[in-house]
Amino acid sequence: MIAPSRRASQAVTPSAFGQDILDRVGNTPLIAPKRVVPDNPDIHVLIKAEWFNPGGSVKDRAALQIVLDAERRGDLVGGKTLIDSSSGNTGIAYAMVGAARGFPVELVMPASVSEERKLIAAGYGAKITYSDPYDGSDGAIREVRRIVAEHGERYYYADQYSNPSNWLAHYQTTGPEVWRQTMGQVTHFVAGLGTSGTIMGTGRYLRERNPRVQIIGVQPDDALHGIEGLKHMESAIVPAIYDERLLDQKLLVNTEEAFAMTRRIAREEGIFAGQSSGAAMLCALRLAETLNAGVIVVVFPDGGDKYLTTSLWKYDSDWSI
Ligand SMILES: Cc1ncc(COP(=O)(O)O)c(C=O)c1O
Repeated sequence: MIAPSRRASQAVTPSAFGQDILDRVGNTPLIAPKRVVPDNPDIHVLIKAEWFNPGGSVKDRAALQIVLDAERRGDLVGGKTLIDSSSGNTGIAYAMVGAARGFPVELVMPASVSEERKLIAAGYGAKITYSDPYDGSDGAIREVRRIVAEHGERYYYADQYSNPSNWLAHYQTTGPEVWRQTMGQVTHFVAGLGTSGTIMGTGRYLRERNPRVQIIGVQPDDALHGIEGLKHMESAIVPAIYDERLLDQKLLVNTEEAFAMTRRIAREEGIFAGQSSGAAMLCALRLAETLNAGVIVVVFPDGGDKYLTTSLWKYDSDWSI
């Protein structure tokens, strides 16, 4: 592990100029795609562009909130290491926040996560343990629980799947942003289900503002899927923060269709996103076909550059999809 040169115990004086990197978390833009969407002026499909976060994904919001709440409670004092399992983006976000705020981070990731994610998390100085790729994100959860059971005194176990700070991050930031950016006119909110923090927090906020807002979850159609970041809830360890009753609909996406849509958005919109973004867009467009009018906001959790070495971008193709 590369040791960060400065730890939290060493005071860091903020400069009178410039921003803290963590001040750039949130307040992401809402982008209007032009070509893949229906040609109907009464239907708006808008992308919540989460790759604009400094760690490159929506998970910066949850990781920062988890850390700030833990610090407030005094759970991250005395040289404790933050540990959690992650399929990648949360790990990168913890690693970034740990480096910026000066505490060590250890991550358990399935060995199958993209090479880029491993390198980025390690680049921020996090220590990484790999779990069996065939056990997916559930294998990483079981492995981190085993480590914490053995050496609990060393760690603050952030447990993104059960930690209410995860969905609260979205209740306090993503939800109000979507409401403001659509001037209260959002009718449908579409997001993929991973830990479910994004949809639980944003969905609860939007429902409070307008009980008629439809909350739509997106998940893979099969337990063995290739949409990194998303969970097939029926066959997975269900996150404690997940409450299915909040959802109006759950739409299923096939991996190849999600990949094809992700590539299409890159070529036809100039938006280079990850595969869970393509999955969410596919559902948003299917939904749009059923409506006469609406303002649909769809979350794009991350950019495509973390998947350059995967079959998302490296594939045998006639370049027609
Ligand atoms: C690429 C990607 N998409 C979607 C999600 C799902 O977000 P959430 O955990 O808030 O449900 C994640 C979460 O890690 C992710 O990394």
